[in-house]
Amino acid sequence: MKFAYIILTLACAACASAQSFPPVTSEALQALIDLDELRGGAQQLQDFAYAYPDRNRVFGSSAHNDTVNFLAEVLRSTGFYNVEVQPFVELYSGGDSALTINGVPTNNTLFTYTPSGTATAPLVAVSNLGCATSDYPPQATGAIVLISRGNCTFAQKVTNAAAARALAAIVYNNIEGTIAGTLGGLGEYVPTVGTDLATGKSLLASLQNGTNLIATLEVNSVLENRTTFNVIAETKSGNHDSVLALGAHTDSVEAGPGINDDGSGTIGLLNVAIALSNFTVTNAVRFCFWSAEEFGLLGSTYYVTTLNETAPQELAKIRAYLNFDMIASPHYAYMIYDGDGSAFNLTGPAGSAEIESMFEDYYTAAGKTFNATAFDGRSDYGPFLDVGIAAGGIFTGAEEIKTDEGQDIWGGEEEIAYDVNYHQAGDNIFNLALDAFLLNTKLIAHSVATYATTFDSLPLPASLSRRHAREMKMRRDSYAGADIHGHFHHHCGTEDAEL
Ligand SMILES: *[C@@H]1O[C@H](CO)[C@@H](O)[C@H](O)[C@H]1NC(C)=O
Ligand SMILES: *[C@@H]1O[C@H](CO)[C@@H](O)[C@H](O)[C@H]1NC(C)=O
Ligand SMILES: *[C@@H]1O[C@H](CO)[C@@H](O)[C@H](O)[C@H]1NC(C)=O
Ligand SMILES: *[C@@H]1O[C@H](CO)[C@@H](O)[C@H](O)[C@H]1NC(C)=O
Ligand SMILES: *[C@@H]1O[C@H](CO)[C@@H](O)[C@H](O)[C@H]1NC(C)=O
Ligand SMILES: *[C@@H]1O[C@H](CO)[C@@H](O)[C@H](O)[C@H]1NC(C)=O
Ligand SMILES: *[C@@H]1O[C@H](CO)[C@@H](O)[C@H](O)[C@H]1NC(C)=O
Ligand SMILES: *[C@@H]1O[C@H](CO)[C@@H](O)[C@H](O)[C@H]1NC(C)=O
Ligand SMILES: *[C@@H]1O[C@H](CO)[C@@H](O)[C@H](O)[C@H]1NC(C)=O
Ligand SMILES: [Zn+2]
Repeated sequence: MKFAYIILTLACAACASAQSFPPVTSEALQALIDLDELRGGAQQLQDFAYAYPDRNRVFGSSAHNDTVNFLAEVLRSTGFYNVEVQPFVELYSGGDSALTINGVPTNNTLFTYTPSGTATAPLVAVSNLGCATSDYPPQATGAIVLISRGNCTFAQKVTNAAAARALAAIVYNNIEGTIAGTLGGLGEYVPTVGTDLATGKSLLASLQNGTNLIATLEVNSVLENRTTFNVIAETKSGNHDSVLALGAHTDSVEAGPGINDDGSGTIGLLNVAIALSNFTVTNAVRFCFWSAEEFGLLGSTYYVTTLNETAPQELAKIRAYLNFDMIASPHYAYMIYDGDGSAFNLTGPAGSAEIESMFEDYYTAAGKTFNATAFDGRSDYGPFLDVGIAAGGIFTGAEEIKTDEGQDIWGGEEEIAYDVNYHQAGDNIFNLALDAFLLNTKLIAHSVATYATTFDSLPLPASLSRRHAREMKMRRDSYAGADIHGHFHHHCGTEDAEL
């Protein structure tokens, strides 16, 4: 009797658990993705931002801390994940600046990681793009220099300006729109601001016809070490030696609440994670919510480099990393990272091509046309590429103007950027494309169900050739840092290598 009772209990437990947790399938997981939940999540992030005067979610701010705590709490409450809140310290840069030319207030934006300083001095134009020290005339010494964006990093230009003993630098844009530059970190720099193309051209015209311009530039830069957090949630179940990792970034820029960039990826991932808790998985799934992406991929870089140094065998267990940074741009295109290098010749580690085809097949089945976007490492997947992990992801576009052909395919108006609110106050819940938000979150669900079940469609990871990894990294960096067309990519990581 006793024996039979035990058998019965065990059988029932097994049966009950099998009933409540069936193996995940793409269809079943996608069916749990609900637009109201996505909207509610995006609203929650916006509420965090708008609860404070700065109305943003910059890393280390109260609203960003609230975002981190919210994610950790929701993920823990499912009971399905081991949740780690990983602290790290990085240098924050903020502050303000003022510029007058011959006493007239002039458009300017503070560069990230600029030193502070005040100067009143003649404005002097540099030759070419200021990428060579020979571009700086003798008059640059003791002057404020005017430099065009393009061909090399901002850091390179401003290092040259400092070497020429200029007092400060103004970098004007080479495309329409605000220039939001970063020097990428501390260096031998002079106080630096950016200005728009029209302002730059008109100053240049005045200088070229012999008008003397006296500039007064005041830069108050706030540089402080801030503690911030990545949130890493891994399924308790599944094979932890064979892991699917996915990521989105939780921080915004200073200018706005960051609801498309990257509230959309954050909430998309969170909702897939919640839905996944109703299933069983074969491979473990790790949801990563990165901080400080906007200051140069700082959270994901910290995570990968720390593991690389302390437990490289853990990195080897990550079979694929998928990145979701901006998935609901108001004037969207469906774009997939070019993992096979067919469009941009920046091929990812073995497996990246197969990940790209998995996303292509998804859009094809959904009746959507897609395009490739450069696999240049300028979002949180970059650090994973650097250690040879297969990667992929999607992107609905940032400040670049949609092509006429793109309008025919995905709709929209003439001459408009994919996201006109990119890095602006208007990146809020009212400006999300909800159809793209829903479809792309279902796409995330599809990719999770696929790889949580099996990695059979991916080649076994090739052992990393350090030389090859270094070469590919150099090509990615030079692609992102030397774009002769003057367009730039969407994340802050981009801007440190900006033209
Ligand atoms: C955010 O959290 C960090 C770490 O606990 C703390 O140092 C910081 O003061 C918090 N930020 C704000 C604005 O409260
Ligand atoms: C899935 O599981 C979560 C708890 O982890 C639960 O809140 C939710 O209601 C379940 N069902 C659906 C349809 O997501
Ligand atoms: C910028 O780079 C391109 C391509 O390398 C080169 O052809 C061009 O001369 C450069 N322009 C300037 C002004 O340095
Ligand atoms: C200054 O910036 C504003 C907003 O970006 C722009 O509308 C205006 O044209 C700029 N001023 C000049 C002189 O270009
Ligand atoms: C020089 O250019 C400026 C700005 O374009 C204009 O206001 C000024 O009249 C010009 N001066 C001469 C001497 O042509
Ligand atoms: C930030 O921390 C680093 C390392 O501890 C230190 O060298 C640096 O002076 C600190 N910077 C600021 C602005 O506090
Ligand atoms: C990872 O660690 C190895 C061995 O210490 C090192 O050679 C390599 O540069 C590191 N890679 C990255 C991207 O940090
Ligand atoms: C891709 O880039 C490599 C390295 O720069 C070059 O050797 C190769 O010819 C390029 N392939 C194509 C198709 O452009
Ligand atoms: C697809 O991407 C390529 C490469 O960036 C670009 O030249 C082309 O215009 C894009 N097509 C559409 C429809 O946007
Ligand atoms: Zn982003």
